[in-house]
Amino acid sequence: MKNNKTALITGCTSGIGKALSVKFAQEGYNLVLVARNEDKLKELSNYLSEIFYIKSVFIAYALEKPEAAEYVFHRVQELDLKIDVLVNNAGFNEFGNFIKTNREKEHDMMHLHMFFVTDMMKFFLPLMLDNKQGQILNIGSTGSYISCPYDAVYAATKSYILSVSKGINAELKGTGITITTLCPGSTKTEFAAKAGMEDTLLFKLFVMSPERVADIAYKALMKRKAVVVAGIYNKILVMSSYILPNRFVAYLSKMMLGKQCQAD
Ligand SMILES: NC(=O)c1ccc[n+]([C@@H]2O[C@H](COP(=O)([O-])OP(=O)(O)OC[C@H]3O[C@@H](n4cnc5c(N)ncnc54)[C@H](OP(=O)(O)O)[C@@H]3O)[C@@H](O)[C@H]2O)c1
Repeated sequence: MKNNKTALITGCTSGIGKALSVKFAQEGYNLVLVARNEDKLKELSNYLSEIFYIKSVFIAYALEKPEAAEYVFHRVQELDLKIDVLVNNAGFNEFGNFIKTNREKEHDMMHLHMFFVTDMMKFFLPLMLDNKQGQILNIGSTGSYISCPYDAVYAATKSYILSVSKGINAELKGTGITITTLCPGSTKTEFAAKAGMEDTLLFKLFVMSPERVADIAYKALMKRKAVVVAGIYNKILVMSSYILPNRFVAYLSKMMLGKQCQAD
């Protein structure tokens, strides 16, 4: 079921990004796959083009680098591709007691989640506006809504993503271009293990599959929703953060994330 549209997806070599790549391929989109691991990108690109009869290319780049969005944009121009859907999914977590977490990793995380995502919209939105069509999917988190102890910098970067996406989406009203922010909660991907947080309560309760999260994201994107929180438990969590006193939310977050850090 080819649709002659092209989706660019960052962070597609595992987890939610990989599930989204499969979903878009199933729906007939051609793909531009972006992440760092060239072998995995090649393998995924070949697999998706063979199974779903789509065109797939890949760009291997470390997206935390200051010039990364410009590099990706120019590669897409060189390949003479029009991007109909832009998915800013690549991300990671530097988790732990703030005084012990790695400053350089935090800087990379801030660059990847904030500068890169903002620059990608800066580069691709004018072309979408010229074409009078386009959709952007940015990946926030339930942490976009909550100041998380032991995950303070990560949650702050995800708040930025939610805020900037909602703001620009409102600016775009009436243009045919929309920005959807997906806010997942704990999802069974490589994310928790990479951050060393797989033993936290958060990753033991109500963990969703990346395929389910990708389905929810795809539907919300197609309905041009501004924001979607993945799953009923995460929706309740986010609503509670509005209703409950800040002190109690902080206490609950500490319980969900803290045990491992307190033992450090
Ligand atoms: N899993 C969760 O519980 C959860 C919850 C809320 C939000 N999220 C968000 O969901 C998104 C996807 O995470 P995931 O759970 O699917 O994690 P994942 O399985 O670890 O996948 C992360 C992807 O991002 C890519 N990536 C990471 N750092 C990169 C960099 N500097 N440059 C280029 N690519 C990079 C990785 O590929 P390479 O290593 O090949 O570059 C990989 O494809 C992230 O934005 C994350 O913050 C996840």
